[in-house]
Amino acid sequence: MADHITQDIYVIVLAAGKGTRMKSKLHKVLHPLAGKPMIGHVLDNVEALQPKGIFVIVGHEAQQLKDWAAEDGRQITWVHQAEQLGTAHAVQTALPFLNETGAKPSSKVLIISGDVPLTQTSTFKSLCQVQTEFSLLTQVIDNPHGYGRILRDENGVVTGIVEEKDATSEQRAVKEINTNVMVLNKSLLEELLPKVSNNNAQQEYYLPDLVGLAAEKNEPQSRVEVIVAPNDWEVQGVNDRVQLEALERLYQRNYARALMVEGVTIADASRIDIRGELKAGVDCTLDINVVIEGKVVLGDNVKIGQNVRLKNVVIGDNVEINAFCDIADAEIAQNCNVGPFARVRPGSKLAEGARLGNFVETKNAVIGEGAKINHLSYAGDCEIGRETNIGAGTIFCNYDGVNKHKTIIGEGVFIGSNSSLVAPLNIAQGATVGAGSTLTQDVPESALAVARAKPRIINGWKRPTKKN
Ligand code: UD1
Ligand code: MG
Repeated sequence: MADHITQDIYVIVLAAGKGTRMKSKLHKVLHPLAGKPMIGHVLDNVEALQPKGIFVIVGHEAQQLKDWAAEDGRQITWVHQAEQLGTAHAVQTALPFLNETGAKPSSKVLIISGDVPLTQTSTFKSLCQVQTEFSLLTQVIDNPHGYGRILRDENGVVTGIVEEKDATSEQRAVKEINTNVMVLNKSLLEELLPKVSNNNAQQEYYLPDLVGLAAEKNEPQSRVEVIVAPNDWEVQGVNDRVQLEALERLYQRNYARALMVEGVTIADASRIDIRGELKAGVDCTLDINVVIEGKVVLGDNVKIGQNVRLKNVVIGDNVEINAFCDIADAEIAQNCNVGPFARVRPGSKLAEGARLGNFVETKNAVIGEGAKINHLSYAGDCEIGRETNIGAGTIFCNYDGVNKHKTIIGEGVFIGSNSSLVAPLNIAQGATVGAGSTLTQDVPESALAVARAKPRIINGWKRPTKKN
């Protein structure tokens, strides 16, 4: 099969239905799967085909979809289906828009539903590459309940589709189901759609009726070519939250499996969630309950402990992220060690071999090679030089209630425990700050700064006695 698709492709996405079974104010196709709205998956997978146009049929909650698409930068033509008279009617509504866009009679029209998020680009391609003017995606499943069934004659030739509600008990026993993903030449679609009637159990214009109508034509070029979906998760639709969770788990298992095949050790494939994209070098280990969001890149031999969230993070080789860390929009160079219980907030950059210990929060912090903040500290809006040691309980007072200010600390500085560094502040290299200091003045190179009350020792001190 040639990889190249010669005809133009137009995509119609059905999303006008009410999605009643989700019991939600959010449009069904905006419910996220792996952190991305279902419709986002659908659009990503069809955009890869470089279609000439994408037409989304909307009705209920249309504005929510439009708002999302605008924010997400999607190029979509919206088609309003005022009354939901059935899936064939929905497609009919889109035809004038296709013609306006300059679709040719030979153009391929791919029809899909917004609530079937995981059909792969390669599967769409196979449907577009058949020799005839009509191809249909099917799947054989153990429990076909609720789906349209594929009808074939004694020679196995497809003769039509019957909806569950219209099917005889014999037809209901058929396990090959209609996915409602199909590709037709525009001319054939225009010819068949007006012939669809609503003379059925639901009094709706059924899109699957096109299959029977094409079979009736009995012409070689309008023969329906069936492609069986390579994976059952590709054709699973989401009508309620139970199905959403089931598909999410399938997606996550597949992702985890792919990572393992690529050389990542995963403690438990059922306890990892990739809500975005994870690229990992060799010999990385992910313990249980790791959540990945956005784009995360790991070098070689990175160890991520249990219950860690990483969002848009780049991590170098041999880094250890210990349990219960939350790290977002940060860069961590090789040989660093973070956590347990560290919160690394946006703009944090750790140079090679830096160390953040337990209950340390950083934000917009550039932390030099081998520098250490080992315990119970807040470092915001700062630069910390190499090999500098920030003692336990140090707070970078970066906010005066109105503005944020910066603290710059040189190399090899030692900040004693329980210090408050009131920004703006410069502490030059080699300086030492005594424990418990509240520092409001710059410290020159190699100086000692102590800013705390002197202890008073009163010998033989008598405690007050209790009065009755
Ligand atoms: C449909 C197919 C069925 C197939 C199943 C696969 C029909 C009649 N049946 O059933 O053979 O096995 O999909 O998942 O098509 N929609 C509109 N406008 C309408 C009606 C529906 O845009 O007037 C949209 C819905 O929002 C939804 C999609 O079309 O995204 C499918 O409609 P739905 O009524 O859910 O069809 P199914 O019962 O799932
Ligand atoms: Mg449905």
